[in-house]
Amino acid sequence: MIPDKKSMSDNNYVQFCEILPEKFGIEPFTMVIFGGTGDLSKRKLLPTLYHLCYDQNLPDEFSIIGFASSERSDEEYREIAKEAIEDFGKDPIRKKCWEKFRKNLFYVYGKFDDENSYRKLSQRLGEVTKTTKKGTREIIYYMAVPPQFLPDIMERLSFCNLCKGMFNTRLIVEKPFGQDRASAADLNRLIAKAFDESQIYRIDHYLGKETVQNILFFRFANSIFEPLWNRRYIDHVQITVAETIGIEDRARFYEKAGVVRDIVQNHMMQLLALVAMEPPIGFEADFIRNEKVKVYRTIRSMDEEYIDKCTVRGQYGAGTSTGKEVAGYRNEKDTSPDSNTPTFFAGKFYIDNWRWADVPFYLRTGKRLKKRVTEISIHFKQPPLRLFSTTCEIREPNLLVLGVQPYEEISMHIGVKHPGIGNQLYPVNMDFNYERDLQGDVHFPLPYERLLLDCMKGDQTLFARQDGIEAMWSVVDPIIKRWENTPAPEFPNYSAGTWGPEKANDLIQTDGRRWRIW
Ligand SMILES: NC(=O)c1ccc[n+]([C@@H]2O[C@H](COP(=O)([O-])OP(=O)(O)OC[C@H]3O[C@@H](n4cnc5c(N)ncnc54)[C@H](OP(=O)(O)O)[C@@H]3O)[C@@H](O)[C@H]2O)c1
Repeated sequence: MIPDKKSMSDNNYVQFCEILPEKFGIEPFTMVIFGGTGDLSKRKLLPTLYHLCYDQNLPDEFSIIGFASSERSDEEYREIAKEAIEDFGKDPIRKKCWEKFRKNLFYVYGKFDDENSYRKLSQRLGEVTKTTKKGTREIIYYMAVPPQFLPDIMERLSFCNLCKGMFNTRLIVEKPFGQDRASAADLNRLIAKAFDESQIYRIDHYLGKETVQNILFFRFANSIFEPLWNRRYIDHVQITVAETIGIEDRARFYEKAGVVRDIVQNHMMQLLALVAMEPPIGFEADFIRNEKVKVYRTIRSMDEEYIDKCTVRGQYGAGTSTGKEVAGYRNEKDTSPDSNTPTFFAGKFYIDNWRWADVPFYLRTGKRLKKRVTEISIHFKQPPLRLFSTTCEIREPNLLVLGVQPYEEISMHIGVKHPGIGNQLYPVNMDFNYERDLQGDVHFPLPYERLLLDCMKGDQTLFARQDGIEAMWSVVDPIIKRWENTPAPEFPNYSAGTWGPEKANDLIQTDGRRWRIW
């Protein structure tokens, strides 16, 4: 167990090791939220910025400007922000902090395609942005807007000289980054006309989760696992991202996206890369991102025959989810009654490099599955010699589980002798659970807290790079294309509240393995 804060101060043997603490500091800045009154702004950005202010993580001098098309005053925007923080923030608003936060909130109304609006913005930036000690003025543009608006915004920002020169700027871009590799490359080219890669922060909130970041720490800060982390000792790897929710009110987005674009292309590829990458030569953004890109590029490409054999698609029908009767996908609001959109994916991937040759990575994700769980399980090989003859046909091999949600934990499954006169092998777990074991005053930052702070500090480690985004699309593009070209006559093929289509079990059982169940 990890000692709590009190015992930490009593004993000086517990040492926190900061990574590059001296390198990053937050300078006074202005954040312009394009789409500052939209859903993302209300649910995530404004509450997160407020909490960063409350936790005293923001510098004394900062400004936030909401930019949207409806006409309203600063005061009216402040009321919108207050309501959003009350509705979606994690703690009630505190008067003193709110007073500080509100006076730094501003609003500019204008149309994304109207140059005059950018002139107004430029003037406002000049008025509210404080100068840093170095004499620079730091601006962060957050693109909290549907992607079709990006060309207008990039063009106008550039035309009005708001990208480089007058200010030091950074750009945060939300997912989705394109619909496929070609459109992602177009988007990257478009953004690159206005901003350098070192200014661009492509956000995937998954990478802001503590347990996802911990994968790197766990692998590369402990010497005992790395020697085993390869084809010699690992039989296979499973990555599961299971959701119990359906598509909620996102049909317009989801009908076009489907599960591969929504989850596999970004979240699952990121998890896969963190598990499979080689040790980076340092903990700096580009060293880590270089290694991730290498993983995507070494994933075995899939032809149609392979896709038909080694991937499984599904779409949920009606069923019972978390104790409630729920509708099937095709009966959700705004979906087509004969929709071909997949809500479930399972697939077997190979990484053709020295470390992972012939080790299958089984990936599975879906909506309306039986349980909400995200985890990576590393399944080790059986010992080479069966010294202990048992009555069990299959003995559980060693298993290492990295739990991302809902339980943020690491657990190692091992076999021990059961106490007694006989010789019985008994499976036990050695585990670490963040919530249980990090007792005391430990703060778990929400993903957006971490990522916004990183951007303010100028740390790109947890943001995707242009080549990474395109390489991830290259992995999944053939699957999307194959599935879109061959409609699934069997949809819906799993009931809500189950583990997905039976074919997903066949996929792994044909190889003599099975999905880990909970
Ligand atoms: N919502 C989420 O939780 C979430 C999560 C992850 C990623 N994302 C991504 O975040 C992005 C934004 O999503 P969202 O759900 O927040 O969108 P949204 O609710 O539709 O918000 C759009 C915003 O843009 C403004 N706007 C629209 N047209 C405009 C125009 N022509 N000129 C100026 N302002 C205009 C709107 O303000 P007015 O109404 O005043 O025009 C509003 O503030 C999307 O890329 C989405 O995929 C969203």
